[in-house]
Amino acid sequence: MTTVTQAISERRSARAYLSRSVPVDLIRGIIEIARRTPSSSNMQPWRLSVMAGPDLDRLRSAVRQSLAANPAAEGSEYKIYAPHLKDPYNRRRIKCAEDLYGTIGISRDNKMARLMQFAKNFDFYGAPVGMILSIDRTMEQGQWADVGMFLQSILLLAHERGLSACPQAAWAAMHKTVRAHLELPDEYIVFCGISLGYADPSQPINGLVTERAPFDEIAEMRGFADEVRGAEAVLSA
Ligand SMILES: Cc1cc2nc3c(=O)[nH]c(=O)nc-3n(C[C@H](O)[C@H](O)[C@H](O)COP(=O)(O)O)c2cc1C
Repeated sequence: MTTVTQAISERRSARAYLSRSVPVDLIRGIIEIARRTPSSSNMQPWRLSVMAGPDLDRLRSAVRQSLAANPAAEGSEYKIYAPHLKDPYNRRRIKCAEDLYGTIGISRDNKMARLMQFAKNFDFYGAPVGMILSIDRTMEQGQWADVGMFLQSILLLAHERGLSACPQAAWAAMHKTVRAHLELPDEYIVFCGISLGYADPSQPINGLVTERAPFDEIAEMRGFADEVRGAEAVLSA
């Protein structure tokens, strides 16, 4: 049985999938458990649409038509990134892109190749299952955090079941086509898509292991009598 520690440590976003289909009960099982995700005042402000087979094919085809008419996509209904990303966030974002494109030999100045790789988002990276995660338009920042937790639950539960996934905010930029396909009421905003399936281990893009900032950059420990740090540690050595 996969532990929580293993799931968090081992899970990675997959961006190439085998054609092997995913049994519906496996997906239902993931969602059944993910329902237990905590949220502020237990509001559970998420809504999930899961597609496979002909339904997913129809969305893919609608998306291809939309991209043919407008390659710049449809614009997101929410700000996916801060308009002027400062460091260290911008530095990390650039590193992530460099490492990702590096796995498939796309250089920084090859804009066309990068664009074509980015467009694979709208094919759910070839996954047999595509999901759209939405949030009620009236929700505030606190509830967006809740939806993020629901997303993490799905990712970890998928990993536990031997599946891989990739959260994709890119789908927010295809909200009109998604809304029409799902008949999603106007009161919802498309937060992200999620590709789900069995990762193709032969594809170099799936070899990417992203870095994380070290402990001291993201956390501080205060008031612990047994915490020996920095200069104190050197002096006492
Ligand atoms: C909310 C969210 C949106 C994301 N959007 C995209 C996306 O549109 N396309 C993509 O390929 N990856 C996307 N990712 C994946 C991140 O790039 C990835 O999680 C990050 O680089 C860390 O790598 P890891 O998931 O392999 O640990 C997204 C992740 C999150 C949590």
